[in-house]
Amino acid sequence: SVTRHYKFDIRLRNVTRLCHTKSMVTVNGKFPGPRVAAREGDRIVVKVVNHVPNNVTIHWHGVRQLRSGWADGPSYITQCPIQTGQSYVYNFTIVGQRGTLFWHAHISWLRATLYGPLILLPRSNESYPFENPYKEVPILFGEWWNADPEAVIAQALQSGSGPNVSDAHTFNGFPGPLYNCSNNETFRLKVKPGKTYLLRLINAALNDELFFSIANHTLVIVEADATYVKPFESKIIVLGPGQTSNVLLKTKPEYPNATFFMLARPYFTGMGTFDNSTVAGILEYKKPLAPKNIPTFKPSLPAINDTSFVANFSSKFRSLNTAKYPAKVPQKVDKSFFFTVGLGTSPCPKNQTCQGPNNSSKFAASMNNISFTLPSIALLQQHFFGQANNGIYTTDFPAVPLRTFNYTGTPPNNTRVTNGTKTVVIPFNTNVQVVLQDTSILGAESHPLHLHGFNFYVVGQGFGNFNPITDLPNFNLVDPVERNTVGVPSGGWVAIRFLADNPGVWLMHCHFDVHLSWGLRMAWIVEDGKLPNQKLPPPPPDLPKC
Ligand code: C2O
Repeated sequence: SVTRHYKFDIRLRNVTRLCHTKSMVTVNGKFPGPRVAAREGDRIVVKVVNHVPNNVTIHWHGVRQLRSGWADGPSYITQCPIQTGQSYVYNFTIVGQRGTLFWHAHISWLRATLYGPLILLPRSNESYPFENPYKEVPILFGEWWNADPEAVIAQALQSGSGPNVSDAHTFNGFPGPLYNCSNNETFRLKVKPGKTYLLRLINAALNDELFFSIANHTLVIVEADATYVKPFESKIIVLGPGQTSNVLLKTKPEYPNATFFMLARPYFTGMGTFDNSTVAGILEYKKPLAPKNIPTFKPSLPAINDTSFVANFSSKFRSLNTAKYPAKVPQKVDKSFFFTVGLGTSPCPKNQTCQGPNNSSKFAASMNNISFTLPSIALLQQHFFGQANNGIYTTDFPAVPLRTFNYTGTPPNNTRVTNGTKTVVIPFNTNVQVVLQDTSILGAESHPLHLHGFNFYVVGQGFGNFNPITDLPNFNLVDPVERNTVGVPSGGWVAIRFLADNPGVWLMHCHFDVHLSWGLRMAWIVEDGKLPNQKLPPPPPDLPKC
């Protein structure tokens, strides 16, 4: 194992897409940001220096951060932001993980432009449990905003309305030829015939789950969220924000006389507006002296709201579960939780006009009806130094919703959320089960739920209200997929299990940034264990102060 050093200079840089030039926050002037790569067992050390007016933090999405919670990155959860002119060194080791993840800013909506691939290769003496690819290509799905995304969310929070949406989706920062004024900004994947390519797909979009497909080609899914899965074929992939997947692309045995579009556009069932536009890239067989006017084929994608396609696709994921990569599913549950996830409203402040539901309220989002308010000092700091009782946070996040109702039926009369910085405290090595239930308050909607600090097993999913009597016996406790982000089905539920073997404070939230901003988040506090190697070490000396 080695240590890999990186330097992230956070700088403003002018970038042009769709004939709009704007100054954006970047890492080292790159959009998308630079690749960070390591092998399993390596240490990654990234010095982040903030040269921009905004406060910044960086999150290593999906990295377990075993006993290195100070390096996780969510602002006001594990650290205070890195202020202008300051720096912070993120220092962590990759333990038991290989595959594709990504890094992104974790404050406000800055991750719209601050994101990049995080590639975890197997140890040098180990190979993939699938065919060795000829080439590996990361493809980051993102969004392009003509406006400044920070202004978009600030305005929405102020008026209580839904925010504006992005102007394009992108592959590796390029919207592609289906948008106006975008022909030259197209992602092209040049391939040779008869080869196997490993596509490392990353959905870094702020607010859209995306369907993805390449015309006339079938993909073989081999990994999800940096865990190996039993390979399966599909022409179409669905990827929620925060999810990653490795897929094998076998190119045609001969040079075809054609090029092929790869497309992505949203899967969406919620209310309100969203960016329903389509990003196109081109799969191009690079032939010497290729004819100029070769036809281009387009893949077909499911309907925008095709929930049954999405449920069917996600039900195909299984852990590889071999002797070398066993599924370690908790067979018993020490603590069981039932969390509703969904939208709601909060009162419009006096002397303000709000444009939320009924023109008299603000949009909000919650888990168990609690809309999580960010504290003024990082929770991990407060917890570590034993200052739980100074009013920064409370430990009374409820294990079940405070009011029960028909979650997927007629919405209740009371849509109001309660604000608070509420956490759940659990002892080290607790086997946790959480059922995440979508609600129909202001409409059913799918939510990509992400947990920091752990991978969890997706042991069950279904539509309607979760019913423990009929649903529990059907849980898959043998080979369920292991991931860090799961789609809570629109009008349905998922059940996850994980072993709380990582002391620290861990955020769980919807990876739609608009829902995150509205409060669809909570935090787990996992206590230290008794042994020295079960405790969180003290913070590094350069940990930013609030
Ligand atoms: Cu990818 Cu809390 O985030």
